[in-house]
Amino acid sequence: PVKVKKICCIGAGYVGGPTCAVIALKCPQIQVTIVDLNQARIDAWNSPDFDLPIYEPGLVDVVKASRGRNLFFSTDVDKAIQEAELIFVSVNTPTKKTGVGAGFGADLHYVESATRRIAAVAQNSKIVVEKSTVPCRTAESMRTILEANCKPGCRFDILSNPEFLAEGTAIQDLFSPDRVLIGSLQTQEGKDACGALASVYANWVPNGRILTVGLWSSELSKLAANAMLAQRISSINALSAICEATGANIDEVSHAVGYDSRVGSKFLRASVGFGGSCFQKDILNLVYLSESLHLPEVAAYWRQVVELNEYQKSRFSKTVVDTLFNTITGKHITVLGFAFKADTGDTRESPAISLIRDFLAERAYVTIYDPKVDAEQIWQDLAEANPNLPLELIKKQVTLAPSALEACKNKEAVVIATEWKEFKEIDWQVVYDNMTKPAFVFDGRLILDAEKLRKIGFRVKVIGRGSQ
Ligand code: NAI
Repeated sequence: PVKVKKICCIGAGYVGGPTCAVIALKCPQIQVTIVDLNQARIDAWNSPDFDLPIYEPGLVDVVKASRGRNLFFSTDVDKAIQEAELIFVSVNTPTKKTGVGAGFGADLHYVESATRRIAAVAQNSKIVVEKSTVPCRTAESMRTILEANCKPGCRFDILSNPEFLAEGTAIQDLFSPDRVLIGSLQTQEGKDACGALASVYANWVPNGRILTVGLWSSELSKLAANAMLAQRISSINALSAICEATGANIDEVSHAVGYDSRVGSKFLRASVGFGGSCFQKDILNLVYLSESLHLPEVAAYWRQVVELNEYQKSRFSKTVVDTLFNTITGKHITVLGFAFKADTGDTRESPAISLIRDFLAERAYVTIYDPKVDAEQIWQDLAEANPNLPLELIKKQVTLAPSALEACKNKEAVVIATEWKEFKEIDWQVVYDNMTKPAFVFDGRLILDAEKLRKIGFRVKVIGRGSQ
């Protein structure tokens, strides 16, 4: 197999950045160059004071240790492609917005243009690795494009190496992954390419955790893993609705069910719904794949996971309206948390966005506080989610606060939308003293001690608990 000395990663986002920064840290003998067309993003990765474009616990230390040594960030895509023996394609693959498969299929044009660029500029053979999450059999299209456009004498081996990191714990996940999955064609060349990539990971990942499979299985496994993870959340959320109607307690149910070793206790926490750039996109992708394979029952099964998630989000906003005496028009509501989950600044598909959209539709005033999301991102997300409301109007209804305590002052209700640890630790007595009465708290993440809050005087609604 080829000995990898130089790696290029196309796409300096949430996946390409942390993944390849960790490779650089763990493999000082390999030069890693992460490239992107987005100049501002590259500038942020290169910023002298390490003001990186994404927030991820531990990431700054990893970049500090390697940047300028064997880790480089650049917009010179062509040069990095030419120099590398192995190229990760880690570009975005969002859900298509228009055309065939709109709303379901993956938009593969970023993958395709990166692939075409590789074919156009490569002067020798390369191992090309799909890092992006793609529909099953995308590697075949990549191969066709590469082979039809490459210079004579160049050969390309394509591998699938999906990423299983979770935002918020990316560095930890990359340091000790449950598994690294590498898919290749089962030819000698395919196996050699697979060996070359496996030997990169072998610098820090135990051999038993590096799984090698066929290309199509690898591609499908990523969609399958996300679909099954999201399905657990939708299952527990579906049960949370039954709990609210019966007086059962979702935490107790989840604990009891999770104790069964066949089920397992992880990822069984009820909430206002899942968010993030991947779950919904990847399931819709699986739905689209199933439909195009003429498997409508399979498509319907997975589609319901997303529909239940939509139901959970709108059910929660309805609970807020119902509890506040059936109207929130003109009322002041605080939303604590805007990121799609704790320990990230990422807001893609964040449930907070849907909640706030619903509150604005009821003409409530909303105050938002999040420790890691910047103002510009919030305005951009709210503008996108409310295409019929001009931004000036949104800004009349929405205020951004500098702290959680400040955000709650003189409000009628506080809604927990993200499970940031600091929300558990607020002085809720002070919050209560400064709120309009009756003071309501809606815990969409099951992080607060409801009994304690009730003793202070709050009226509390928690997902998955009957009213008391
Ligand atoms: P992202 O949007 O943060 O980053 C993608 C980057 O690729 C952008 O900075 C964009 O400018 C760049 N790019 C697009 N086309 C390019 C081209 N032709 N040449 C150079 N740069 C180009 O996306 P993110 O979150 O990193 O996701 C990347 C892929 O990884 C997606 O397929 C996603 O499904 C998958 N994934 C994401 C996870 C996550 O937690 N965000 C986890 C596992 C997989």
